[in-house]
Amino acid sequence: MTNIDLKTEFPLQTNLCHLNHAAVGPWPYRTMLAIKQFAEENCNQGSLSYKRWMGKELYLRKQLQTLLNAQSTQEIALLKNTSEALSIVAYGLDWQVGNNIVIPAEEFPSNRIVWQSLTDKYGVEVRLAHFSTNETPEESIVKLTDHNTKLISVSSVQYATGLVIDLQKLGLYCNKKNIFFCVDAIQSLCALPIDVQQISADFVMADGHKWMLAPEGLAVFYCKAQHLEKLKLYQYGWHMTQDSGNYTTQHWQVAESARRFECGSPNMLGIHALSASLSLFEEVGLEKVKQCILDNTEYLFAQLSKLPEIELLTETTKGRYAGIVNFRLREGNQDKLFNFLTKQRVICAQRGDGIRFSPHFYTRKEKLDQAIGYLKSYIK
Ligand SMILES: Cc1ncc(COP(=O)(O)O)c(C=O)c1O
Repeated sequence: MTNIDLKTEFPLQTNLCHLNHAAVGPWPYRTMLAIKQFAEENCNQGSLSYKRWMGKELYLRKQLQTLLNAQSTQEIALLKNTSEALSIVAYGLDWQVGNNIVIPAEEFPSNRIVWQSLTDKYGVEVRLAHFSTNETPEESIVKLTDHNTKLISVSSVQYATGLVIDLQKLGLYCNKKNIFFCVDAIQSLCALPIDVQQISADFVMADGHKWMLAPEGLAVFYCKAQHLEKLKLYQYGWHMTQDSGNYTTQHWQVAESARRFECGSPNMLGIHALSASLSLFEEVGLEKVKQCILDNTEYLFAQLSKLPEIELLTETTKGRYAGIVNFRLREGNQDKLFNFLTKQRVICAQRGDGIRFSPHFYTRKEKLDQAIGYLKSYIK
């Protein structure tokens, strides 16, 4: 990290506290440059260098394979967003009446609605695991499973409370019980390291616009090689065929790789941008990124716990928090506080029962102090 000038990479206005990476992250300077260069090239040369762009697409697949520790790029698809990837799993698997799916009760709607949509169509039951202090989140999930459970789907980090799920534990359980394990990783990819093999995941997905610091509209979808043929396809086009450059053949076949889920033209602008953003994380290293994020979270925990008027809603046990800190006023109007913070240019969000701060690895302590200072001035 010593070689990277974080002030250059993140030239955010000084009167701004950007604590909203769990919603939409800002683009690093290098990503802005990659987008600008791509736009200039398009404007000046059109598609003259399309072959080179295809090279970038292949390179991005390799970057994502490394990021996830997938076995090969064959397991990586580039999709529109997390919801599209979840839909590919939901509508690709073969459901029987009476099958059930277990998810946490307070999941982000993308990882709930898609499963609930199967109920009327296929008679699939969606079971909601309510977390409590009496048991671990994994126990709450596992106790709802039975011999009819076909899939467990969880966000790696819960979007509102910031709770970190023990993916390895759940993955092992799923593996043992022959249950598909699906992980919405949008709230942890490029905040915490992930290893899809170690956690025994069958499907993992995440759009790039949060912790990955890339634009909206380009997501990674990991599908374990042995499941590629299990997912029924319902979108078709030229890009998903094995020999996608052959436009005249009448004897096409679906690509053997996860490219089979990409029906049409790739999002080349998004590909250039996401690749640039990932290069930053490669240089910094994900262990370092994680350390800095946890450090910021712990700093916020410490500052917020000094304020008796504030109730911390995020679990503070080590291993159970990542980049999200959620809190509320014990008494008083939360909307008013949120509006006040927004007016002070503290970019944050209202999620669950509280206000969500989500600083990234590059966020300096003085920015956290600034935000806490505004919070104090509101309380007093
Ligand atoms: C857990 C989780 N999943 C998914 C999404 C977004 O899904 P998509 O990429 O389809 O917009 C969010 C956004 O807030 C989220 O927090």
